[in-house]
Amino acid sequence: MKSRICELLNIEYPIFQGAMARISDAALAAAVSEAGGLGIIAGGTAPADYIRQEVRKAKALTDKPFGVNIMLLSPYADEIARMVCEEGVKVVTTGAGAPGKYIPMWKEHGIKVIPVVPSVAIAIRMVRSGADAVIAEGMEAGGHIGELTTMVLVPQIVDAVDVPVIAAGGIADGRGVAAALMLGADGVQLGTRFLTAHECRVHPNYKKKVLAAKDIDTIVTGRPTGHPVRVLKNKLARQFIELEKSGAPLEEYDKLGVGALARAVDDGDIDFGSVMAGQSAAMVNKEQSCKEIITEIFAEAEKLLCRDWRQAWEK
Ligand SMILES: Cc1cc2nc3c(=O)[nH]c(=O)nc-3n(C[C@H](O)[C@H](O)[C@H](O)COP(=O)(O)O)c2cc1C
Repeated sequence: MKSRICELLNIEYPIFQGAMARISDAALAAAVSEAGGLGIIAGGTAPADYIRQEVRKAKALTDKPFGVNIMLLSPYADEIARMVCEEGVKVVTTGAGAPGKYIPMWKEHGIKVIPVVPSVAIAIRMVRSGADAVIAEGMEAGGHIGELTTMVLVPQIVDAVDVPVIAAGGIADGRGVAAALMLGADGVQLGTRFLTAHECRVHPNYKKKVLAAKDIDTIVTGRPTGHPVRVLKNKLARQFIELEKSGAPLEEYDKLGVGALARAVDDGDIDFGSVMAGQSAAMVNKEQSCKEIITEIFAEAEKLLCRDWRQAWEK
């Protein structure tokens, strides 16, 4: 199952654990990297020193490469951008903006730069400014999303750029991985499936809500703010929908959103916390170690990709 991305990053399986703000810490990222994928520590809006400590913890837990995700809207983005150079981080993924101004510095330090992109135009722009690969993320994903689905976004970006493309959004098992590779992706990024990993720090109530999710249980809130977010439906999500219906000013969204992720992730308040998860939550039905998740997914994908399809149809 090795692909260009495995060679580029020196990893065994072409799978990234997507950054998850406040959730993907050193423990989760190191477990994924130890299992042969690429673990990613989420910068979120945390201060640079906190993320530096997480990077150091991850280095103590694994010798394998791992990444840091920099949310470019974070007030600490500049500091984290410098910190990854000082700490010898191997891979940086970016979201919520254009990382162009940092790329020369990262390249000087041998860091591979992989932005998350929601459209062909942005993918092309990122590659022109020096990205080594891109993560094409469809709107099935959990967290902040774009408009296009993974199924249509991935092949178009594959056609438009000559760097490896990682497919993200809605992939939770070996079938999803096989499909992404058929669309031309060189690898996959999964977030939601890792929410129920043993090594994932989210509150047990959050895990239970993901495990119980059905196909239509996610909803997108915050569209009027220009930063739509996919979450599992709960009382908070309904309050956001009410705001949208009432045409409330944008400040009201900020007020409602303050501390909401921490309430869900740390306190386990799944009624009034922000329980971010993708549509694939409905396909996540067990708690496993990161190693079990990755081994299972790739065993299934390999079996599917080796199957003689004509024989399968004849049955
Ligand atoms: C709870 C949660 C938090 C997320 N936070 C971030 C983030 O901080 N930065 C980022 O680039 N992507 C973030 N994402 C997106 C993931 O990195 C990944 O691309 C996405 O989860 C893949 O789709 P899936 O949820 O269908 O697996 C988040 C996703 C989830 C579920």
